Amino acid sequence: MHRQLARVSILFLAVIAAAWSAFTFPHAATSNSVLFDREIVRILNIHCAMCHMSGGPAEDITTWQQTWLQRDAIHDQVLARHMPPWAAVSGYGSFKNTNQLTLREKRFIVSWVEGLGPRNTGEVFFNLPGTDGAQDEPVTASFDTAAWRLGDPGRVVRVAPDDVLVGTLDGSELLQAFVTIDPFIQEETFLSGLEFLPDDRRNLHAVVFSVADSGQWLATWTPWYGHREFSEDSGVRLAPGQHIQADYLMSESNSGMTVNGSLGLHFANTTTARQVQEISVESQGRGTRLQTETTLENETTVIALWPEYPAGTHSLEISARHPNGRVEILLLALDIPEQWPTSYILESPITLPAGSRLTVTANAGDAQSTALSGMLRLTLSNY
Ligand code: HEC
Repeated sequence: MHRQLARVSILFLAVIAAAWSAFTFPHAATSNSVLFDREIVRILNIHCAMCHMSGGPAEDITTWQQTWLQRDAIHDQVLARHMPPWAAVSGYGSFKNTNQLTLREKRFIVSWVEGLGPRNTGEVFFNLPGTDGAQDEPVTASFDTAAWRLGDPGRVVRVAPDDVLVGTLDGSELLQAFVTIDPFIQEETFLSGLEFLPDDRRNLHAVVFSVADSGQWLATWTPWYGHREFSEDSGVRLAPGQHIQADYLMSESNSGMTVNGSLGLHFANTTTARQVQEISVESQGRGTRLQTETTLENETTVIALWPEYPAGTHSLEISARHPNGRVEILLLALDIPEQWPTSYILESPITLPAGSRLTVTANAGDAQSTALSGMLRLTLSNY
């Protein structure tokens, strides 16, 4: 009884305090608070809308109402690093395709939720008569699914196969579909970039593109980063008649499995292109900790990492020990979201001297975890 009374009076005081501060500092209260229309929409645009939109793989949170209703879950998911799905820990390498929230963005979300999710100040962002006298549309988050991020491609290949090979991925909930694409290569050329615009994003988690015969990895599409651009004077060599293989990772659902889409290809000037190559290291294993290693024979400039690991992998570390003993961590990924495989495109290439020892370690997590079983592989894109 006593305790209950105390709680009521504290709540009452809090209400009074809130009303008092709003009453005494109305301007301070509005200009200092985080608003949906101003800060939150920007965060959703960059980090969330590509999935949380109609036609995307997750529940729509593009309007203020939708976001407001989900605010507690958003707060929790963001602080727990569950959303957006991105496992690389900042401070160990920086990546072009990161979808990590900055500390500032996290603070905005926390303050917005704690401030009860205000939409706007009531006058600045909403219901302003436009120049034509019409009412402005409410501010909403959006993601343009039809825009070529790399600019207009040199060639657009429609992916619309008659036949799709479907399989299941070992131990994972994702399904796999394979498609071979003919990019109509007539003479030797260098691919300097590629970008994929799928027709249907609802079930699509990742698409791994590689050169069909050599198996050379080209790019891994994810909902938040659908392209790969090689540096200005470099490219992947394509021979006449060569095909591109696309390996789709999709969730099973009733909405069907469409692999159709548009693949945009960019070509480099053949005479100046530096050739992008790859080094691959892998081992088959079983245990709570799997490791695979290799020594680099030549000086290697690393431009991207594409790790593949068994289901149940909780954390992943990729490191390079220089011949002088210095250890460089290329990637540290924690709480890996299994449903969202991704590559890691280095913000700036890292050159490792010949003789460097490259080590990839996958951990199952705590001691109680079931053992990892299968292939641990790192494909390293370099020149
Ligand atoms: C790559 C796609 C993707 C991105 C990017 C993404 N989400 Fe999600 N999110 C999902 C999917 C799929 C689910 C539902 C399944 C799950 O919980 O994993 C989900 C679930 C959620 C949930 C509901 C969790 C629950 O159990 O109630 C919240 C809240 C959420 N996301 C917030 C966000 C926010 C905020 C962002 C951006 C900062 C974001 N997500 C970015 C795909 C994504």
